[in-house]
Amino acid sequence: MGQEVLQAAEYIKGKVSKLPKIALILGSGLGFLANEVKDAIVIPYNEIPNFPYSTAPGHEGKLVIGELFGKEVLVLSGRFHIYEGWHPSEIKKVIHVLKVIGVERMLITNAAGAINTSYQPGDIVLVKDIINLMFRNPLRGPNDDEMGPRFPDMLGVFDHDWMTRLKKAVPQLREGVYIAVTGPSYETPAEIIAFRKLGADLVGMSTVPEVIACAHVGIKVLILSCATNMAAGILTQPLSHEEVMEVANKVKEKFSSLVKIALEQI
Ligand code: HPA
Repeated sequence: MGQEVLQAAEYIKGKVSKLPKIALILGSGLGFLANEVKDAIVIPYNEIPNFPYSTAPGHEGKLVIGELFGKEVLVLSGRFHIYEGWHPSEIKKVIHVLKVIGVERMLITNAAGAINTSYQPGDIVLVKDIINLMFRNPLRGPNDDEMGPRFPDMLGVFDHDWMTRLKKAVPQLREGVYIAVTGPSYETPAEIIAFRKLGADLVGMSTVPEVIACAHVGIKVLILSCATNMAAGILTQPLSHEEVMEVANKVKEKFSSLVKIALEQI
């Protein structure tokens, strides 16, 4: 496996006594959960050798390792979006580091636009499948055969047993298909109509590169999306990041209690 990945993994291993098997990526509105981790060991991304980090002011970039809702977790606080200019292979590197330190499962949350008109802003949806419309793949380039196969299967990346337990615990939980675009512009109304025809219920600008990298290394995922807004053209009002953040903030308690229930189902 790559020296860069090994070095980063060794650095993290040297900082903690217990290595978590569960990782969390927190999307808009849920960042506060990183501060609720008990007995937390915080490692800024820029301390970890070869780890990507953002130099943008106000951008949180840290690993938080400790106990959340009774489970040992590693929280990636600060995400890497393609629209920020990150190369998809950097996202792959981060997932490879998690694999090397022993992560087996990942809970991914995000904010998304609702394409499905039966959703309402503030609904939280269990993602049952993804469509990659980013026209990028984090696995492009030479394959590291030690980490995973050249042509990974995508069927097995979802932790269906975990998802089934969560659905049993929360029978009213909605399910949907998430389509990923690079952004950062929001979609046009015509794109939303096209995406609906493709079978998508939600649209967002994250998650899919991480999921593909997880499929490669055999980390199983469960994804929860907060539908923060109706997608472009469904309502007459223009989309704004302020609206997304406002709704994500409004439902953060509901969202975090769902994260709690999800962690309890592992
Ligand atoms: N489109 C893309 N990404 C998003 C949206 C949206 O409408 N809302 C939140 N993230």
